[in-house]
Amino acid sequence: MPRPIEALIHTDALAHNLARAREQAPDARVWAVVKANAYGHGIERAFEGLRGADGFALLDLEEAQRLRALDWRGPILLLEGCFEPRDLELCSRLNLWHVVHCEQQIDWLAAHKTHQGHRVFLKMNSGMNRLGFRPQALRSAWARLNALPQVDEISLVTHFSDADADRFGANGIAHQMAVWQAATHDLPGERSLANSAATLRHVSDAGVRADWVRAGIMSYGGVPDYPEHDAAHWGLLPGMTLRSKLIATQDLQPGDSLGYASSFVAEAPLRVGVVACGYADGYPRHADTGTPILVDGVRSRTLGRVSMDMLAVDLTPVSGAQMGSEVTLWGRGPHGSLLGIDEVARAAGTIGYELMCAVAPRVPVGVA
Ligand SMILES: Cc1ncc(COP(=O)(O)O)c(C=O)c1O
Repeated sequence: MPRPIEALIHTDALAHNLARAREQAPDARVWAVVKANAYGHGIERAFEGLRGADGFALLDLEEAQRLRALDWRGPILLLEGCFEPRDLELCSRLNLWHVVHCEQQIDWLAAHKTHQGHRVFLKMNSGMNRLGFRPQALRSAWARLNALPQVDEISLVTHFSDADADRFGANGIAHQMAVWQAATHDLPGERSLANSAATLRHVSDAGVRADWVRAGIMSYGGVPDYPEHDAAHWGLLPGMTLRSKLIATQDLQPGDSLGYASSFVAEAPLRVGVVACGYADGYPRHADTGTPILVDGVRSRTLGRVSMDMLAVDLTPVSGAQMGSEVTLWGRGPHGSLLGIDEVARAAGTIGYELMCAVAPRVPVGVA
């Protein structure tokens, strides 16, 4: 009998979340961002829910090949472009659109032998300072690309660092928007600016909606601006459930400690459940006592240290719980219950993105 832990991917929720991105920006096209193996959901599984997207954005050529193997013939965008010159061969062969963020990538294109005109997304660094041409270098990069016979069409792209919060005394994107508008207003071509946070918070601005939005975390039901807003506020549904079962119960007496480092000590008689889930499954080890968790769909809290294969839960709110009771680490629980991945992430000092990407290979994954 395998350990009872499993992850479930909810393709109906992915489709719903994608529809939310469309509702937010009805006049834009939507990239479903499926990098990092669809944020841990699995490209093939996520594809079932996200195939209604106008395109898929990712980083790895291998993942692009997997999408083409699923018979996806629409746009695929490589968000970081090519990592070496021979990547361009695959771009030509698989008709991959690619970001160009530095001079070297233009050099590679200029040397690339192809009959297939490439669609490139010229990336501007509007303030994130990771990838892209600074505003003063954008025009000459655009002119270089425009002169290349290998280039069929040039679009423009940038990425926001702070779309998830009001910062810098403004809405978090105003400073980048000002830089972007000044540098690009008279350049032709389609544009893509908005990630999930911008798609949820800022798309009333047509300049932010632009031609393409890039829906990453929201496609999976993660909330980019939690805890200011939650999934219910944005109308998002969890794309993934991580669930397991109780494999033991213990009755602690006052003064009894629990687990490694005795970090939890019972002050009164306490019934606890032991869950088949630990950090080797991808559950965050830094989730302290008090991290929310569902037992038989009833909200409770974790107790003590998370160990490699097990964690403990307070059974006070669920008197009927016993060995075999269902435990929801995040996602959909029984009887219509829900536990947001962002809540769990926050209790562990991280973000939902990291948890969904970190589910361990040993956890069997099913499609709900
Ligand atoms: C260039 C780019 N666009 C879009 C996204 C999607 O972001 P999110 O998952 O916050 O929607 C990312 C994610 O890091 C990114 O790097």
